[in-house]
Amino acid sequence: MPKRVAVDEVAAHNERMWERLAKAGIPYTRPQGTPPRTRAGKRRFFDRITNGTLEGVELEGKRALSLAGGGGWDAILFAELGAATTLVDISRRQLATVRALARSRGTELDYLRTDMRDLSALGSGEFDVVFHQHSLVFVPDAGRVIAEVARVLAAGGVYVFSTMHPVTFLFYESWTGTGWRPKKTYFNDRPVPVLQPTWEFGRVKVHAPTYEYAHRTADLVNACVAAGLYVDGLWEWSPHYDGGPAGSDDALEQKLPAFIQIRARKPSSSGHAGNGSRRRTDPPAPPPFARPPGYSPPSPRRIRAR
Ligand SMILES: C[S@@+](CC[C@H](N)C(=O)[O-])C[C@H]1O[C@@H](n2cnc3c(N)ncnc32)[C@H](O)[C@@H]1O
Repeated sequence: MPKRVAVDEVAAHNERMWERLAKAGIPYTRPQGTPPRTRAGKRRFFDRITNGTLEGVELEGKRALSLAGGGGWDAILFAELGAATTLVDISRRQLATVRALARSRGTELDYLRTDMRDLSALGSGEFDVVFHQHSLVFVPDAGRVIAEVARVLAAGGVYVFSTMHPVTFLFYESWTGTGWRPKKTYFNDRPVPVLQPTWEFGRVKVHAPTYEYAHRTADLVNACVAAGLYVDGLWEWSPHYDGGPAGSDDALEQKLPAFIQIRARKPSSSGHAGNGSRRRTDPPAPPPFARPPGYSPPSPRRIRAR
């Protein structure tokens, strides 16, 4: 397994935290459920875990990258559906979990331990599909990841990524007893403060104060455009809509989406977007905005649970 060095203290810190989370075996560190044995069943399972964003994309004979995909099924399923697959993650333990599972199934994968912002070990134009779920939140500079992915994507390739919804993210842990009071403004690039950094899943509780960053929707879309990609899908959703006690994450996620997911494509070599429209070369200029007055931080009221 080639080794690469973390690019900065954020990556080094989050790597330590993910080692800790993986050691405790929280859900994000263990592939959930079991895909059926048949090819059609595997494809259905794959389309479910990728939220239908890659439905209809043929994988046989393709080259796939599962980015920050440690602890999930997607790399294994890419490979079992016929794609030559590379799994990238920063956590040794996250990679090892998938490696053990892949070995037990006789599934071949390439593994690379690196920061998602440094894909220099991968060649330009090497991948037809890049799937990248729920992890941009762990880096301050999402644009750098998007630019790296645009480089390793082949012409005509597709990139699907998701992260915490940048609006909803500001509200977690901000319940005052009568309402939510955001922890910072949407317009500020500081990390979102995590006040109670205990990850809680049932009886498992892990103290893992990861550094986390919201990324504005416009910044994500414009980073794709700046990297020469075009966006052809954007989804906002919550894992479930059952709600929960006042002030809980579940209650918040009933009203606001937990995640944002974007599908971007690299134009085919003809330079056209593939949907008949001409490729844009520059992102639109951002509208001017006045910084709203700052918020004073609310007092923490609950344990983080997600
Ligand atoms: C929420 S988990 C998502 C795991 C998997 N993709 C899934 O959907 O279940 C976040 C993953 O990002 C990885 N990660 C965090 N920071 C990273 C970084 N800077 N570079 C690469 N991977 C990183 C963690 O090790 C972890 O495996």
